[in-house]
Amino acid sequence: MDTPLDNEALNIAAWHLREARRVVVFTGAGVSAESGIPTFRDDGGFWTEFPPEIYATWKGILRAAAKEPRRLAAFVHAVIAPIAAAEPNAGHHAIAEIGRHKPVTVITQNIDRLHQLAGSTRVLEIHGSMYEVVSLNGQKTKRTLTQSQLKRIAERLRRAKYGALSLARLLVAIRPIAGIGVTGAHRPNLVLFGDSLAEPDWSDALKAAKECDCLLTVGTSGLVLPAALIPAYAKDAGANVTTIDPGEGGGDIWLRGTAGDVLPRLVERAFE
Ligand code: OAD
Repeated sequence: MDTPLDNEALNIAAWHLREARRVVVFTGAGVSAESGIPTFRDDGGFWTEFPPEIYATWKGILRAAAKEPRRLAAFVHAVIAPIAAAEPNAGHHAIAEIGRHKPVTVITQNIDRLHQLAGSTRVLEIHGSMYEVVSLNGQKTKRTLTQSQLKRIAERLRRAKYGALSLARLLVAIRPIAGIGVTGAHRPNLVLFGDSLAEPDWSDALKAAKECDCLLTVGTSGLVLPAALIPAYAKDAGANVTTIDPGEGGGDIWLRGTAGDVLPRLVERAFE
């Protein structure tokens, strides 16, 4: 973790970034870790407390709601509260800065909207967004939430976690994001295990990966398919691939370190 950043590797990655005509930045939970949002699979990650066998499918979540409303309130709170409180970190800002020099497509697996808040303009959210509420079948956007609305829901859930919580009270607490209203049932626009990826974002992401000549992959374990194929598609189409991650190498160049530390240095070196 404390290995110094390889200066030569940084120079080469910066050269590729500077020379690129089209850039893709592919991000996972690690890019938001320094904004206070836990990753999934690192020590103490999200799936440690909430096993994906239960919490990564809609069926599992519904079963948990009926059986253990208080535990489900804790789960929804654990998802929403860090996102509601988060601000973009230096890594998100550096990615937005690349967009001031080059055409950039950000392909993110994250649902936290932090790339947009940092100023990135073309962001493809292939696993959906915590800020969008859609019809039950995911076909229609019902409404877009604000960060303060998410904060209010998180606060209600925090209180619910400690009180005597019935399923009915839980349903009231989460009604703005999930439930049944006068216009039918609604849920957050999230891609869970077994779901198709969000469209048109996924098709656009594949196209962008195949057309870019430089891809930065940031803060992802690369374990979840099909999203994890994005760097390989870019590589096969001839792009240079640089990985920025403290724990996971791969691609042509590995800049070992955190997004908030490495990305500003890379961007400064490329465009100074
Ligand atoms: P993971 O938790 O699997 O991986 C996080 C990655 O971020 C690891 O490679 C860490 O080494 C790295 N990391 C940790 N801190 C970092 C930092 N400060 N800067 C940069 N990198 C850091 O998260 P994802 O790869 O995003 O999908 O997970 C992919 C998908 O699995 C998620 O979108 C979610 C999950 O199940 C669904 O739920 C569909």
